[in-house]
Amino acid sequence: MKKIVVLVSGGGTNLQALIDAEKRGEIPNGKITCVISSKPDAYALTRAKENNIPTRVLDRKAYPDIASYSRAMVEALQEEKADLVIYAGFMTILDEQVVRAFPNKMMNVHPALIPSFCGKGFYGLHVHEAVLKSGVKLTGATVHFVTEVCDGGPIILQKAVPVYNTDTPEILQKRVMEQCEWKLLPKAAALFCDGKITVKDGKTWIEEV
Ligand code: GAR
Repeated sequence: MKKIVVLVSGGGTNLQALIDAEKRGEIPNGKITCVISSKPDAYALTRAKENNIPTRVLDRKAYPDIASYSRAMVEALQEEKADLVIYAGFMTILDEQVVRAFPNKMMNVHPALIPSFCGKGFYGLHVHEAVLKSGVKLTGATVHFVTEVCDGGPIILQKAVPVYNTDTPEILQKRVMEQCEWKLLPKAAALFCDGKITVKDGKTWIEEV
């Protein structure tokens, strides 16, 4: 059974999707063993507690820089013996020490179709605002492995939804979450825990079921 550690900063609806999928038996070879939050008041912590999942708070504000925060994160993840680390709305940048300690073992969900609308400054509602401003007719979500390049790691799964001119950022975010993120993230976690994802030349190869 692979130990899954989920990193959060906010509401935790993606964490909830993972918890629900695990409960439904959709991640048969994985178990969420710890939730780590970068913010002490993140509602995601309540979701974890309600489901008897151990939590830790690694408050970003308590560390002077990214390097010391990343060091503390590596220590925490090693203590938790994480096999898979999932960024689920984790809004804090970690440096290369973390990626080196967990190569191709960390995945992130991003609320757009990478390589569009991603990178520094593209997070949360800002992504959907930028999508609406651009006039694209499709957006979606991407689950990818985390590398040193922000939102630049090998893509695992993507799904698209339509964009309508009448959308607000909030309406679009809801569509992307419900139809893409909450489906893709548990699926990617299950594929990883089943040993079905291989990375070669910067691309993932997924063993089909
Ligand atoms: C989600 O839409 C997630 O994709 C996004 O933040 C939201 C968190 O929601 N992440 C990013 O923008 C990372 N670049 P949640 O806390 O309810 O899961």
